[in-house]
Amino acid sequence: MKPKVYVTRNIPEKGLSLVREACDAEVWEEELPVPREILLEKVQNVEGLLCLLTERIDDKVLVASPRLRVVSNYAVGFNNIDVDICTTRGIFVGNTPDVLTDTTADFAFTLLMAAARRVVEGVDYIRAGKWKTWGPRTLLGQDIHGATLGIIGYGRIGKAMARRACGFDMRVMFYDEYVSGNDAETGATKVDFDTLLAESDFISLHVPLTEETYHFISTAELAKCKPTAVLINAARGPVVDPQALYVALHDGKLAAAGLDVTEPEPVTMDDPLLTLPNCIIVPHIASASVATRDRMAEIAARNLIAGLKGEPLLHCVNKIPFFPKSRDFIIE
Ligand code: GLV
Ligand code: GLV
Repeated sequence: MKPKVYVTRNIPEKGLSLVREACDAEVWEEELPVPREILLEKVQNVEGLLCLLTERIDDKVLVASPRLRVVSNYAVGFNNIDVDICTTRGIFVGNTPDVLTDTTADFAFTLLMAAARRVVEGVDYIRAGKWKTWGPRTLLGQDIHGATLGIIGYGRIGKAMARRACGFDMRVMFYDEYVSGNDAETGATKVDFDTLLAESDFISLHVPLTEETYHFISTAELAKCKPTAVLINAARGPVVDPQALYVALHDGKLAAAGLDVTEPEPVTMDDPLLTLPNCIIVPHIASASVATRDRMAEIAARNLIAGLKGEPLLHCVNKIPFFPKSRDFIIE
């Protein structure tokens, strides 16, 4: 008999077909996320769960799913999952790193360029019928070449961002306590946090969302930035305090922002950030290329299937690696 699994959204066929082949799969086919009460009911009899960052996988979900052996997240970030509780219960947690690194960095750089050179304002300007002539002072932005990029979080995506910046003749610095020294490959220099804030013309966030990085960028940090600086967030919305960002952008303490992620998501239509011309907001699409989403689906499927077999996942995020042969040791 095939193991029962629940898939919380219609992920690309490349992954879904693998899941269907190996498992007895039920898929939530709607566009909007599965309601919490339905999720709690659906997980009762499943051994595997393939979910997205829109599902909070916490104590309650795990208690409701006594047979669960693997949670496979269709994302690299896994702040939606209580990994420690999963580990305690002997449940594998998988994610989809690597395949989205370059796609995500491409997009963070897209936001950087669009915010610096006011691309969205330019489009709006034409659509509003304002383009009457070539204006010597119209829509002046910030130069990218020769500018300093400060990368906060120098992991896979942060480093990929640095590589892109090299091609634009930028000076690159990064802040990351987990990286020991300068990066010889990209020439990026390791600096302390205050130096990065004070010297960067562009600041790009590439940290995971944890208790330490919640509202990492708030009023005090924004006050240390250059008023001409541009902030890019393609990491997680709550890494930036949205009210502090609004005030800084509104008061001219920061030139512009490019946000792929918001707090909350989706951004509410009455969020004051939406009223600012110098704030570009897009709906969490940094990894959204056809090829990358296919690869993410395939890895999420393979993680799920490996976990069901008790085999090592391609990408496992449990802090304590383990190979559950039986579920006898689980602490209830
Ligand atoms: C998307 O935000 C991801 O974490 O993959
Ligand atoms: C602008 O288009 C220029 O020719 O300087």
